[in-house]
Amino acid sequence: MPPRPIIIDCDPGQDDAVALLMALASPESLKVLGITCVAGNVPLELTQRNARRVCELAGRPDLPVFAGCPRPLILPLGTAEAVHGQSGLDGSGLPDQPTMPLQDRHAVDFIIDTCLSAADGEITLCPLGPMTNIAVAIVKAPKIVGKIREIIFMGGAALGPGNRTPSAEFNIATDPHAARIVMEAGAPLVMFGLDVTHTVITTPTRLDAIRKIGTPVAEAVSGMLSFYDRHDPERYGEPGAPLHDPCVIAWLLQPDLFRGKETHVAVETTSPLTLGRTVVDWWGVTGNEPNAIVMDRADSDGFYALVVDRLSRL
Ligand code: RIB
Ligand code: CA
Repeated sequence: MPPRPIIIDCDPGQDDAVALLMALASPESLKVLGITCVAGNVPLELTQRNARRVCELAGRPDLPVFAGCPRPLILPLGTAEAVHGQSGLDGSGLPDQPTMPLQDRHAVDFIIDTCLSAADGEITLCPLGPMTNIAVAIVKAPKIVGKIREIIFMGGAALGPGNRTPSAEFNIATDPHAARIVMEAGAPLVMFGLDVTHTVITTPTRLDAIRKIGTPVAEAVSGMLSFYDRHDPERYGEPGAPLHDPCVIAWLLQPDLFRGKETHVAVETTSPLTLGRTVVDWWGVTGNEPNAIVMDRADSDGFYALVVDRLSRL
């Protein structure tokens, strides 16, 4: 089976960084065609720089990295330095400035060009941050929808609370209008929301297992996750932080680690109180045709074994 062609759209972010490393460590399964960056955890200037820092850490300075939209479609940009640090990659210990170049082409145009030159249903998009780039690509070139095999995203919450507002998860809350365009576009969706990402917690034992890999990659990841972990225990009462974005890549590599349900997902974009809520019809009460597989369970030990296995390869 040839490796699956994917584009990772991200806002690194420590958890985005682990997802990128896992994908780049799996060339037999995934062909990363390019990395597109969006404003989210930190401003675009930093997310595109961080993506290049991670590519160099992975030994892939050849991988094309593109800068995309610097702000959401309608809302002002709201970032998350309190979680990820001022650089967005605090704790990594990596050189501040990458040496590999940023591509001149806009991320949206890379997504469009790549999809339009592909066969129908060939390209998988993996948004790990706000969906601004994906939404703009769909609006600018609606024909790309037929070229998309699946959009596998980290975002939203099906049954549980939000983490940016009481009802909305950060990626969707940051750009709910973009998320709505993506949910309504008609491409097959696979949703990794907080319900499932909060079941894969970076406990001290799991962090030790990563540290014990004993490579520069492992050192950078354990430094990043130790920084990233610092808030969540008291916030969520868990012994570590949820490793959100790597769930997307883990599913591509080992889908049986997760359980989900076909259902209909919509995004609330009108009410100030619930703006950005993913409205998931878990019991099928609306009669709306399912547009997504929404994940709610993970084998967390199996997930971390996969994380360690892939990081050990770099
Ligand atoms: O809510 C978690 C999501 O927001 C993750 O993608 C994290 O990187 C941030 O972007
Ligand atoms: Ca992210």
